[in-house]
Amino acid sequence: TTSTDAALRTPIVAVLGHVDHGKTSVLDKVRGSAVIEGEAGAITQHIGATAVPLDVISEIAGELVDPTDFDLPGLLFIDTPGHHSFATLRSRGGALADIAILVVDVNDGFQPQTEEAIEILKRSETPFIVAANKIDTVPGWNPTEDAPVQATYESQSDRVRGDLDEKLYEIIGQLSDRGFSADLYWRVQNFQNNVGVVPVSAMTGEGIPDLLTVMMGLSQRYMKEAMEIDVAGPGVGTVLEVKEEKGFGTTLDVVLYDGTVREDDTIVVGGADSTIVTDVRALLKPRPLSEIRTESRFENVDELKAAAGIKIAAPELDDAMSGAPMRVVRDREIDDVIGEVEAELADIAVDTVEQGIVVKADTLGSLEAMSNALEEAEVPIVRAEVGDVAPRDISVASTAEDPMHEAILAFNVDVLADARTAAENQDVRIFESDVIYRLIEEYEEFVEEREQ
Ligand code: GTP
Ligand code: MG
Repeated sequence: TTSTDAALRTPIVAVLGHVDHGKTSVLDKVRGSAVIEGEAGAITQHIGATAVPLDVISEIAGELVDPTDFDLPGLLFIDTPGHHSFATLRSRGGALADIAILVVDVNDGFQPQTEEAIEILKRSETPFIVAANKIDTVPGWNPTEDAPVQATYESQSDRVRGDLDEKLYEIIGQLSDRGFSADLYWRVQNFQNNVGVVPVSAMTGEGIPDLLTVMMGLSQRYMKEAMEIDVAGPGVGTVLEVKEEKGFGTTLDVVLYDGTVREDDTIVVGGADSTIVTDVRALLKPRPLSEIRTESRFENVDELKAAAGIKIAAPELDDAMSGAPMRVVRDREIDDVIGEVEAELADIAVDTVEQGIVVKADTLGSLEAMSNALEEAEVPIVRAEVGDVAPRDISVASTAEDPMHEAILAFNVDVLADARTAAENQDVRIFESDVIYRLIEEYEEFVEEREQ
């Protein structure tokens, strides 16, 4: 028998959007730390998680948030770098994120990765709001640092306000073209049926109070029941990244969305060839209000409760896959837990056929998103795997009966040097991109060329 310890966990918020639209900057503003400054070329290299407690939110949001109105403990933000697919963020039953912020640059509007994010949000039925970012770049903008958006909007000239309105209505129109009824957030009554657009500037902090208020309100109103978990129960999470870490060997960056993980736990993790059963060696926690990916030194912890981002050091993790499930065994039968992990993996598995193309992707979630998109495009798949393009992939593609199938679609992975040479020798085409629909478009062009 296990003791139960019911509690409300922190909602998991994914921040997504096109490259450079300001995902990291928005979070950075919220954190008040300069993560972005430590980033090479301001490109985010890895997924990180940031916990922002309710009292910090209410401090930033000022009079917009009264902490006594809330009983959720805060928000856990996951930053998805532009080159990394939001599709990794999946969990048992769908999306890992409970809620999402789609960041759109007001000057650029919808871009390829915005489209991709929208598709995945739609498919996974994840509620989201749009942060229309970089409002400070409207010519003639008169900034009021960290102000709520309506106040700053009032203090702009008619012309500036008109320019901003035009950009915002463009975004609202783009959302409605994709089947989402949307409006400026203060006009939205029901956030379940409408997408709220929050004008913000990650640079000046304008609109950030509104963004946090809306996220907190949405979570509290629509997600409270889903946040009730048994915190003392065995932990359940999703692997975001598998990383070498000096002194620890291969480690897992995991987002824990249920229960607790402890230093002496045995865990079961989805692996490329088989399910991994291993003992936790160390639990490494990012410091409060910082991100996993910027930590050079980790803090050792005895245990950690959901929701949280955690780095797990353990033996035998080399085969673990990004996007795979992780479950703590605790006082249950190991075989039962292996069964649960395998059932989750089978749920993600891609259907393959005798004749088709080869697909490689960086994570299980992106592999799944690729296969969904290829199914829609009616392109059959002979082999679908997580990992870099290797010589054996070329062998498979080169033996295709149909010349149209002598192709490999590589999503956000490397092509090993010997694989590239083999592909050239055997006339196998490799398509590489970090945008799913671009891969498919390029493949379709290739098919047209070969048909002629
Ligand atoms: P990736 O992680 O590479 O996908 O990018 P990102 O979406 O995290 O964008 P990031 O936060 O790195 O911002 C990209 C660039 O836009 C940086 O040079 C930021 O300084 C700039 N930027 C972000 N937000 C704002 C804003 O509100 N106003 C202005 N003027 N610049 C901004
Ligand atoms: Mg970033």
